Amino acid sequence: MLKEAIDIKVNLTTSSNLPKVDWDNLPFGKVFSDHMLTMDFADGKWSEPVISPFANLSLHPSVSVIHYGQTVFEGMKANRRDNGDVILFRPDMNAQRFVESCERMCMPTIPVDVFVECVRKLVEVDKNWIPNKEGFSLYIRPFMFAMDEGVGVKPSDTYKFMIFTCPVGAYYSKPVDVKIEENYTRAAVGGVGRAKTAGNYAASMYPAKLVQDQGFNQAIWTDGVTHEYIEESGVMNVVFQINDKLITPSEDSDTILRGITKRSVVELAKHIGVPVEERRVKVQEIIDAYKNGSLKDAFGAGTAATIAHIQRIGYRDDILTLPSIESRTISLDIKKRLDDMKNGTGEDPFGWCVTV
Ligand code: PLP
Ligand code: COI
Repeated sequence: MLKEAIDIKVNLTTSSNLPKVDWDNLPFGKVFSDHMLTMDFADGKWSEPVISPFANLSLHPSVSVIHYGQTVFEGMKANRRDNGDVILFRPDMNAQRFVESCERMCMPTIPVDVFVECVRKLVEVDKNWIPNKEGFSLYIRPFMFAMDEGVGVKPSDTYKFMIFTCPVGAYYSKPVDVKIEENYTRAAVGGVGRAKTAGNYAASMYPAKLVQDQGFNQAIWTDGVTHEYIEESGVMNVVFQINDKLITPSEDSDTILRGITKRSVVELAKHIGVPVEERRVKVQEIIDAYKNGSLKDAFGAGTAATIAHIQRIGYRDDILTLPSIESRTISLDIKKRLDDMKNGTGEDPFGWCVTV
């Protein structure tokens, strides 16, 4: 159970948009709950957080974030259980990653307990927005951006921290097709790939569009130096199953986002006795495993994407068609355990779900 750590002022809306929601048609991230949280940084300190009705922002055209991209974000989800309890999944890990992203981007940090309390309170206020449907959740988007006005390039002195939420289904509604990318690079060693910052996503859009034009959903990024090693995909980390072992790129490199879903998959797999290797993963190893029949599964792991099974992998001019989804018993078991944990119908051996 989360405890209130700070005072948050709440101004409730007088006209909820809830009755207007078409629950059977929820495009990902297009429907916004009634409230948002705002906290401003100036003169070296944070203001008190305020929850207010969801509304547009008014910004000076020279505001630093628009020009130089000094901004970071997080993605997390809240679920409602049948008994009415609302839970967050490992919110302290998002809070900690937010600190690390801010540090890398030269931005002020927010203490983990303050971040989590801001999320908790906003979810509590808009808990009626959590969809009552299997596979659906309330997506939570905390973010911070540079607010200084002026054209000079330097770390801003002023920032805005905000959170809004959206009722959503899974980001991908069916198994995905991905293409191994050997020309473009998402992140370079020494760059900002490990930070959850806008520029990583902006840089990915052009190469992602090229693979989408070829009929794939996303690229699988390879390392920027040799393009011989697999890194991650657009909005998710990737995990492969060769024979009965899970293999996933290690996070030692500062080019890969340290995913909370992937970390949970790894910890849960070890807990149920599935061997896991976190290490560098050569593209050739995956191709060889496919050819000799030992590549049993490949899937993406991410908050928005959840566990997204990969159906086809494009590699140069070849297509690797992976085994049927039904045969992928290890990832299906892990997915079910994660779902049941969040729904309160299964065990939570590590205490990952915290009640709001
Ligand atoms: N990699 C990228 C680039 C992402 O955008 C995400 C999504 O947040 C992930 C991996 C998965 O991270 P997480 O499981 O913490 O959502
Ligand atoms: C998430 O899974 O939370 C993400 O950040 C993906 C997002 C870019 C849609």
